Amino acid sequence: MWAVAMMMGDEHFRSWGDLLYSVQTGKPAFDHVYGKPIFDWLSDHAEQARIFDAAMTGFHGPETQAMIDAYDYTGINTLVDIGGGNGTVLSAVLKRHPNIKAILYDLPGVIERAQKNLADAGLTARCQTIAGSFFESAPPGGDAYQMRHIIHDWTDEQCHTILSHVRKVIPKTGRLLVIEMVIKPGNVPQPAKWLDLNMLVLPGGRERTEAEYRDMYAKAGFKLERIVPTPTEVSIVEGRPV
Ligand SMILES: C[S@@+](CC[C@H](N)C(=O)[O-])C[C@H]1O[C@@H](n2cnc3c(N)ncnc32)[C@H](O)[C@@H]1O
Repeated sequence: MWAVAMMMGDEHFRSWGDLLYSVQTGKPAFDHVYGKPIFDWLSDHAEQARIFDAAMTGFHGPETQAMIDAYDYTGINTLVDIGGGNGTVLSAVLKRHPNIKAILYDLPGVIERAQKNLADAGLTARCQTIAGSFFESAPPGGDAYQMRHIIHDWTDEQCHTILSHVRKVIPKTGRLLVIEMVIKPGNVPQPAKWLDLNMLVLPGGRERTEAEYRDMYAKAGFKLERIVPTPTEVSIVEGRPV
């Protein structure tokens, strides 16, 4: 949890200190405090970016095992992890499924750090790394495209762009796997609602309900097939191209 503490105690603390700005404008306080969006800022700050990657593993790490236990990856030949971060999630999937090959796609600085982690895990031969932006393209060659905690970082419009790039390259029989906390019905406390506020304050995104995912998928040319729950707060929102 070292990296989580470092991230929370610095950029997150300062951004949450400006919560009123987000509540009054609907815009991310991070941009107001730091002058640019969080992922642009991290691209310019290597040490904080390294801490951010590690914090994602620290914070969301327990979800990984639950996710690979709950979802059956059998039948997938090449799994593309869009915004795959430091490669920890892919490493876990590849270790569980020795026949799967993978492509990790993320921003250039992140990819450099991920390459080292994949090499340390002995997975270089099975995992290609590609640097790029999901707002520009998605790498072809996968039969499943996975995104964990990517969609919740962005507005509906930005998500449409990301999903449309995936739609262009995914085969007809491919699978889209979005791993997020899906907001359940009812005006009751849920961790997803705290994360929803965190997304507003930091990247300017949001958590979504099943109906909102269904609608987003349909607009980008996917059908939401099913939502696979895990024992943690995240679920796998599985889609197929239509
Ligand atoms: C919240 S983290 C999730 C990381 C990882 N999927 C996980 O579950 O731990 C969001 C990821 O999106 C990546 N990202 C942000 N903007 C991107 C872009 N334009 N293109 C590709 N990746 C991007 C970040 O570098 C980061 O690794």
